Amino acid sequence: MRKQQQFISTISVMLFCASASADDNLEEILARGKELYFERVSCWVCHGDSAEGRIGPSMQYGPTPMVMQEQLDSNPQMEVIVTELNPDAEDLISLATFIASFGDCNIHVLPGHSSHELL
Ligand code: HEC
Repeated sequence: MRKQQQFISTISVMLFCASASADDNLEEILARGKELYFERVSCWVCHGDSAEGRIGPSMQYGPTPMVMQEQLDSNPQMEVIVTELNPDAEDLISLATFIASFGDCNIHVLPGHSSHELL
């Protein structure tokens, strides 16, 4: 688990701090994130349709996959997600990318890297 967290945090830094580059993979990641976010039992239930916050806090600031993993490990209210959705590293990256798109943060994949190489 610790290894996976380090791995996720490295990737999220790459995803969130990267310079601008249009990438078709971004579309795929966003679509996948959206699908996961709106699963029958998923984030939207507690964090709202636009991640604006409901039972859980707003996520429009764009939490990283690492922060999500920490919540899944430690937050009893989110245990249902582990049972129902059980997101892996790739899922969390997709979710983080999609959720960040609700805020005004720019999301980019590193130029010359496909997201699959990163994963
Ligand atoms: C059953 C309700 C519920 C669901 C479903 C849920 N969450 Fe949460 N989440 C919470 C609550 C409540 C908190 C606040 C916990 C606290 O502050 O102690 C939280 C906190 C968080 C935080 C920390 C936010 C912050 O800035 O402190 C993140 C990130 C997060 N959730 C991500 C997710 C993601 C991603 C999903 C979907 C995969 C999800 N949550 C689904 C209830 C939920």
